[in-house]
Order: sequence, then C-alpha cells, then structure tokens
Amino acid sequence: MFEWMLPENHAIAILKKDHDAVKELFDKFEKAEKTAVKEKIIDQAVTALKLHAVLEEELFYPAVRAHVGSEVMNEADEEHHVAKVLIAELDSPFGKNDHRDAKFTVLAESVRHHIKEEENQMLPKAKELDIDFEALGERMLNRKKELLAKGIPVDAEHRMIAKTNGKADSPAAAARRKVSNSRTASSKSTEGTRRKTESYVQ
Ligand SMILES: [Fe+2]
Repeated sequence: MFEWMLPENHAIAILKKDHDAVKELFDKFEKAEKTAVKEKIIDQAVTALKLHAVLEEELFYPAVRAHVGSEVMNEADEEHHVAKVLIAELDSPFGKNDHRDAKFTVLAESVRHHIKEEENQMLPKAKELDIDFEALGERMLNRKKELLAKGIPVDAEHRMIAKTNGKADSPAAAARRKVSNSRTASSKSTEGTRRKTESYVQ
C-alpha cells in the first residue's frame, strides 16, 4: 500500500496528492444537501479529474506502461474512458437533470475504485522503475500550470457526447418517460373517475 515517504515533486507523490484531494471532495459531496454546494463540489472535482487525467495520460502512463504491463495499464485506460464519458455528460448543457447527483455519485464510485487499483497495483509496480521520478514530476507540474493558464483541451469523450445532443443517456431518458407516462395515465384515470362520478350524480 501507500506508505512511502516521497519528495513533494516525485511523480507518484503528485498523483497521490491529487487522489486524496478528489476523495475529499467525494466525501464532502455525500454530506452536502444544498444544490449550490453540490454544484460547487461537482465543478471542483470535475476540473481536478480532467487535469489529473491529462497528466497521467500524456506523461505518467507512457513512462511506466511497459514496466507495469498491459493488463493493469489497459484497465486504467478504460476506467479513464468511462470516467471521461460521465464527466462529459456532467459538463454538457443537457447534464442538468434529475440524474445529475446520481451521475456524479457513480463517477465518484468509479474513480474511488480506479484510485484503489492505481495505488495498490500500478504505483507500487511503477515505483520499481529506475527513472527520474522527480524530473517526471516537474514535467507534470509544469503541464498542470500550462493547462490552468491555457485551458484543458477538449477530449474525444466530450466531442462524442456533444454529438448526441443529450440523447446518449438512454436509461435516464427511459426513466423520465415512464414517470411522465405514469403521470399522464394517472391524470387520465383521475379524469375518468371524475366523469364517472359526474354521470352517477346526473
Ligand atoms: Fe488514473
């Protein structure tokens, strides 16, 4: 597990610090009640995750992939992809709906799982590598500064979700249709009962 004492600018220490920060935001979200507070947390977590994913995908993962092995690394890639789809939906103008809290909760669960796998499997294996982790860490911190100054590039998942015009989330859409259908059905049956009652009165 994660008990190494590492310099602050060590690449693995930078990732671990990011992990702790997002897990703290997930915990805060679970306790939050007001929508404004939840929205602020979603915004902070989504930004932190996007920055973190760029640093890992551009710099850390390529540096350690061959040594860690494709099984662990490919799984990490796929977990990033799923998280980025959820993030793209949360970022979308269509993302402010009745499933928003659930979507963020699922993102948090999936990222917590991903962090566990990174910290228990990927990072201990990566640490065996004889590379300059502090130089890698410096490159990661510089890239983070650059992203904060110039903005985070739009990823393939955001482009994919943007093309769907809010129609990609079919279970959520089906649930909304069922709710509105049952409302229509119950208002029709109320109307039917009222008509029957009126005919009895007549
Ligand atoms: Fe990751």
